[in-house]
Amino acid sequence: MPVASDRVGERPQEAVGMMLNHIQAIRSQFPSLHLPRENALPAVFFDNPAGTQVPQQVIDAYTHHFTHANANLGGEFSTSQATVALVRTVRERMAAFLNAPAAEELVFGPNTTTLIRRLSLALAQRCQVGDEIVLTRLDHDANVAPWLAIANETGMSVRYADLKPQDCTLDLASLEAALSDRTRIIATCHAANAPGTINPIRWIAEMARSVGAWFVLDAVQSAPHLSIDVQELGCDFCFVSAYKFYGPHVGIMWGRRALLDDLPTFKVRPAPARAPGRWETGGAAFEALAGMNGLMDYFTWLAETVHAGDEPDRSPAARCESEVFKRALLAIQRYERTLVTQLIAGLRAIPGITLHGIQDPERFHLRVPTVLITHREHPPKELATFLGARGIYTWHGDYYAYEFMRRMGHGERGMLRIGLGHYNTTTEIDRLLNALQEL
Ligand SMILES: Cc1ncc(COP(=O)(O)O)c(C=O)c1O
Repeated sequence: MPVASDRVGERPQEAVGMMLNHIQAIRSQFPSLHLPRENALPAVFFDNPAGTQVPQQVIDAYTHHFTHANANLGGEFSTSQATVALVRTVRERMAAFLNAPAAEELVFGPNTTTLIRRLSLALAQRCQVGDEIVLTRLDHDANVAPWLAIANETGMSVRYADLKPQDCTLDLASLEAALSDRTRIIATCHAANAPGTINPIRWIAEMARSVGAWFVLDAVQSAPHLSIDVQELGCDFCFVSAYKFYGPHVGIMWGRRALLDDLPTFKVRPAPARAPGRWETGGAAFEALAGMNGLMDYFTWLAETVHAGDEPDRSPAARCESEVFKRALLAIQRYERTLVTQLIAGLRAIPGITLHGIQDPERFHLRVPTVLITHREHPPKELATFLGARGIYTWHGDYYAYEFMRRMGHGERGMLRIGLGHYNTTTEIDRLLNALQEL
C-alpha cells in the first residue's frame, strides 16, 4: 500500500511563524483583498478552488506586455522579438515550477479542460476496441468526461475506482481491482477539488506502469498548495491551471517529450512538427503568458520574503529556480496546514454542521485546505447566500465534481465548499466561524 508522499519537512513551527510574520506583506501584494465590499468590509476569499486573486506582479505584467511587447511571434522588429523571448522565458519558468526535464514538454492552452480533451483525442487514436480506461469518483469532470467521450467514440470501456465515503479518500483496493492487462489509460487527480483529498500518486504511477497504461494526472487543485514535481510523481501527463494558483487564465499540460512529439494531434500545416508547437493551435494569449511571468516573479518574491532571515544558501541547487519555487510552496503548505487545522476544529464545534473528508489532524498531510460541509437545516445554496451577504465568499453545488457528489448522495444540492489559500488569515476564519455560529 502506498506511503503518503506529501508530508511537509522538518521544523514546521518555524516555517509557520515565517509566513505569519509576513502575512500582511503577502496580502499587500494582492490589491483585490483590500477593496471594501459587502458591509464596507473587505471580502474574505474562500472561493479559492474556483479561482484565486492575483498579485500586483501579474497585473503589472499585463500592462507591461500591452504597452511594450504586443505583437505576434516571428516578426523582424522589437515587440515581436520581446514576445518570442517572453514565451521562451515563461516556458522555462513553468518547467522549473513543475520540475519538468525540458521546457519543450510544456504546452500552453486556454484551460485544463480543453487540453485534456485534446490529449484524449490523441490517445484515442492509439487505443482499440476493448481497451480500458480507469477513472475515479474523486475527479473533476474535466478529467472524466473527455475519457467517457473517447470510450464512447472508440468502443473502449471505462472502470471506476471508488471512494470511501467516510473520509472521502480513494478506495485503493477498488483501483487495483479495476486494472487489467487491457488498461491503457489511468486518469486521476492529485488533489480532489471537492473534499481536498490528496491521492497517493507515486503508487498509482507504479500501478500504471505495472499494466503498461498511460497515467494522466490532474494537478489543478494541488498546484496552489504543494510543490509539484512531475519527475517525482511519475505520471506521463500533468495538467495545471494558473488561475487556480494566483495567476491568469492559462492551462498548462506537461507531457513526456517522446509522447508529445509522437502522438497524433491536429495542427495547421505550417505549424511546427515537434512539441510544443504542434499542440498549440492558433495564437496564444501572450498577455496571459506575461501574467504567468509576473506570477513566477511573485513566487520568487514570496520565497525570498519568507526566508529573508535565513542564513543564505549559496549552493547552485538553492539558486536554481525550481528550488526557489519549491521553497515558496513549502512555506505555503505549512502555513495553510495551521489554517485548515483551525477551520476544521472550529467547524466541528458548531452544532448542525457535518464535515465531509479527512478531519483527523494526524492525516492532514493527506489533504489540501479545501473543506466541505453540509448543514442539518440549511441547504448549501442558502449557506453560501448567507455568507456571501456578509462578505464571505464560498461555493455551493457540485463544482463539476459530478461523480463525487452523486456517490456521496448529494447530487442534487451539492455541498458548501470553503477553500483556503495562502493569503487567508486566522481572523478571516474566525469571521466565517462566527457567521456560521449566528445561524
Ligand atoms: C481538479 C480540477 N480539474 C480541472 C478543472 C478544470 O480546470 P479549467 O477551468 O482550467 O478547465 C478544475 C476546475 O475547477 C479542477 O478543480
